[in-house]
Amino acid sequence: MGQGTDQGVAGDGGTPPPDKIAAGNAGQAETWNGDDGRYWVQQRERQEARYRRLTPHLMAAAGIRADSRVLDIGCGSGGTSLEAARAAAEGSVLGVDVSAPMLAEARKRAADSGLPQVAFERGDAQVHRFADGAFDIAISRFGVMFFADPEAAFANIARALRPGGQLAFLCWRSLRDNAYMTVPMDAIAPYVQLPELDAPGAPGPFSLADADRIRKLLDSTGFDEITISAVDEPMWMGPDPHDVVAYQLDMPGSRAMLAEASAEARAKTVTALRDALAEHQGSDGVTLGSAAWLVTARRR
Ligand SMILES: C[S@@+](CC[C@H](N)C(=O)[O-])C[C@H]1O[C@@H](n2cnc3c(N)ncnc32)[C@H](O)[C@@H]1O
Repeated sequence: MGQGTDQGVAGDGGTPPPDKIAAGNAGQAETWNGDDGRYWVQQRERQEARYRRLTPHLMAAAGIRADSRVLDIGCGSGGTSLEAARAAAEGSVLGVDVSAPMLAEARKRAADSGLPQVAFERGDAQVHRFADGAFDIAISRFGVMFFADPEAAFANIARALRPGGQLAFLCWRSLRDNAYMTVPMDAIAPYVQLPELDAPGAPGPFSLADADRIRKLLDSTGFDEITISAVDEPMWMGPDPHDVVAYQLDMPGSRAMLAEASAEARAKTVTALRDALAEHQGSDGVTLGSAAWLVTARRR
């Protein structure tokens, strides 16, 4: 694996389509270019707020300096790319992502922020042709768990870094460790057929939950000085349970799930979810626990 195939993805208005998407990543590219990507853009401010307590861990670990050349893998709507650009005032930041709608939003935000040192390219980070050693630092906030061939992807990222260059990323620990997933899922499980989100070895949000797997992966793809630390932070979900229910049940995956359920099951789902979330309402809104790995490594 790791060999790309030409894939006809429409241009996103800002750059030509990526020259290659690895065959195994075509499904993810379709997802992030479709309803999921559009929903992320629509919910961008909420997404940034959800990650508010996690992002500082990543930025502190990245060690970005004024003249750093930074690569942001799976940059989405550009939240961390912009933050990196503020730190690399005399350097440069390149955000790479497969999602045209999310990159369009990222470009708009960069223009609005007046940060000329940040640019975005559409590409599959597993096979994208980065210039060798072009970056001092590669970062990712939850954008490195979706590769069909993680070995090929991390080897490609290693090549993009100069020797001694720094890798820093956040990825999720197991689904069961993450109350922001289990509280809603456990509440609605009696009424709907939940999708499997953590199939072992399959690309998806929880694919790097196993720290041993991360360590072996990085060691075999050209990294050393590997550190993997647990980050446990509360995650703000929304101002109140009604708002969070609307957000969660309007997600493309939830809509598909509910379409299969009876009217009675749908009504019970809404009530069960609202009641479960109400137990986590505080003065600041609804907050649930999250569990991530903060991973750092240095290119050999
Ligand atoms: C969970 S989102 C995180 C987005 C962003 N890093 C943030 O923190 O808001 C995962 C991102 O990874 C991107 N992605 C998935 N597979 C990718 C690949 N093979 N190459 C580049 N980006 C990819 C998706 O399009 C999506 O934007």
